[in-house]
Amino acid sequence: CVIKYYKTVSSTNNAAKLLAQQDAREGTIVVSEEQGNGKGRLSRCWFSPAQKGIWCSLILRPPFLPQEAPKCTLMAAVSICKAIRSLTGVQVGIKWPNDILYNGKKLVGILTEMNAEMDRINYVIIGMGINVNVTVKDMPVEIRNTATSLLQIIGKKVSRVRLLCAILAELENEYEIIKAAGFAPILEQWKKYSVTLGQKVKVIGINETFYGKAVDIDDYGALLVDTGEKIERALAGDVSIRP
Ligand code: BTN
Repeated sequence: CVIKYYKTVSSTNNAAKLLAQQDAREGTIVVSEEQGNGKGRLSRCWFSPAQKGIWCSLILRPPFLPQEAPKCTLMAAVSICKAIRSLTGVQVGIKWPNDILYNGKKLVGILTEMNAEMDRINYVIIGMGINVNVTVKDMPVEIRNTATSLLQIIGKKVSRVRLLCAILAELENEYEIIKAAGFAPILEQWKKYSVTLGQKVKVIGINETFYGKAVDIDDYGALLVDTGEKIERALAGDVSIRP
C-alpha cells in the first residue's frame, strides 16, 4: 500500500478524499502527526495533538452497495480492537457503531465517509483517530471525563508505528475475509467485542428519539433496538446513542 505521511494537515479524511478523487489506489493511507481541523461525527471536532496519536485515513474501493458502507466502519472497529488488545493487552470494547472504549471512556473514534456513483461505491474513506500517548494535561478540559488514551490506561508510552502496523495488518486480513466469505465473520467478532448489545440505550435521531434495549445488529450494520412495542432500526450516521 501507499502511505502518504504529513507533518500537519487540516484533516486526513479531507486529504484522503482529494487523493481518492484523483484516482488514488485502494489501500492508500494518509497519516499525519497532527490535524489542524480534525473532524468527528455529527460535525464535532476531533482533538489531534502533534505526535500524540494516530490520525489516519484509509481509502477503500469496496465492491459494496452504497447502503453497505457502514460495514467498513464495523470492520475498522473490529480491526482496531483486535490490534490494541493483542499489542497492549488492554481489553477495549466497541460501542456501536464506531467508538472504541475502555472503562466507558473513548479511546478511538472512526469517521467513515463515502462517495457513490450510479449505485456503486466509488470510494470509502475510513478515518481513524486513536488517542495513543495523549496525557490528561494535553486534553481540553471538556473531554477529560469522557476521553482516555493508551498512555493514561497503561501508564507508559506505546509505539504509534507498531500500533499502526498492527491495525493495518488486521484491516487487510478482515477486508480479505469480507471479500472471500462475506460479512458474517466480521459481524460475529463485532458482537463479541460489543459493549452496546444487551444495554439500555437512548437513540437520538434527526427527527425522533426512542429508548429501548439494543438487541442485535443486522447484516447492514444497523443496530436493532427493542422499544417494548417494536424493533426499531438505527442506522449509523443518522443517530447517536446514549446509555
Ligand atoms: C468520532 O466522532 O468519533 C469520529 C472521530 C474520527 C477522527 C479521525 S482522526 C483521523 C480522521 N481525520 C479526521 O478529520 N477525522 C478522522
